[in-house]
Amino acid sequence: MGANTERKTMLSGARPTGALHLGNYFGALENWVKLQEEYDCFYFIADWHALTTGYEDTSELKSNITNMVIDWLSVGLDPEKSTLFLQSAVKEHAELHMLFSMITPLSWLYRCPTYKDQIQQLKDRNILTYGFLGYPCLQAADILIYRASAVPVGEDQVPHVELTREIARRFNYLYGEVFPEPQSLLTKAKVLPGTDGRKMSKSYDNTIALSDAPETVRKKVMSMVTDPARVRKDDPGHPEVCTVFAFHKVFDEDGVSETEALCRAGSIGCVQCKKNLCSKMAAKLTPIYEKRQEILRKPDYMDYLKEVIENGNARARETAEKTMAEVRKAMNVDW
Ligand code: TRP
Repeated sequence: MGANTERKTMLSGARPTGALHLGNYFGALENWVKLQEEYDCFYFIADWHALTTGYEDTSELKSNITNMVIDWLSVGLDPEKSTLFLQSAVKEHAELHMLFSMITPLSWLYRCPTYKDQIQQLKDRNILTYGFLGYPCLQAADILIYRASAVPVGEDQVPHVELTREIARRFNYLYGEVFPEPQSLLTKAKVLPGTDGRKMSKSYDNTIALSDAPETVRKKVMSMVTDPARVRKDDPGHPEVCTVFAFHKVFDEDGVSETEALCRAGSIGCVQCKKNLCSKMAAKLTPIYEKRQEILRKPDYMDYLKEVIENGNARARETAEKTMAEVRKAMNVDW
């Protein structure tokens, strides 16, 4: 990392909630992989955050973490370039969260849009807990403990980064300048719908997972619904309503206008169009799938995954400890 010391620090995290899919890939991961070249990146698995909404049943937490590490490595997050770690292994996050909770007014937390939304959406779970309300405060600790200057997030997370800035300002005002104010890094993510045209989401059962075998991907594509107005192969098509076309836009940026023209003219059938898509998808996804198989083929792959994450934890801890020493000193809790 020595040579990287002048680079800006970037941090992002994701909850381990199950197999990552192509929506996650194009929405975030693809960008994370690119950012590794420019920034000193910290990427972490937010297992404590997963507990804020999923504390009742933790039976899948460990396997979700394992699978997330495999997903991350398979898409090209590189432990040589970036610090990949597990939130719960770096206890300093909890200490900073607790100290931030002393200075964060309740009103800031209540007004977070995600707080109101999630309470509406997750009515079946009791998330009216202390931990859930304080979740953005934990997120602020995650970010500020590494003094990250940029946080690549989706639009839904922008209020949390804003709150992080407010907490940093309040801390600096009360105890002296310790934290820089981080910026959200909103990159225009490519939007890929689910196989049924709705948003790709596990709860709709319309995902293509990064772990899906090529044959599974092919089957899912071949059964996608296209333009319902195209009854015969030579009927003119309407790409704007077609899920297969939405996939072409993401997987075949160069060839998409040709596909569009052929479809509108009715000179390509939907089956052929899907087959073309399959080969474009395979070009992108096969290397990811093969990387995954390469990891899984190692007889001791669990040891390998643990080693990757433990190295990352140690690196993260080093930075986190330094920040905490300053924080304790600034707040006079270093007696
Ligand atoms: N809250 C984020 C999510 O639900 C995950 C997360 C936790 C995070 N801590 C973070 C993202 C810090 C960016 C920075 O997706």
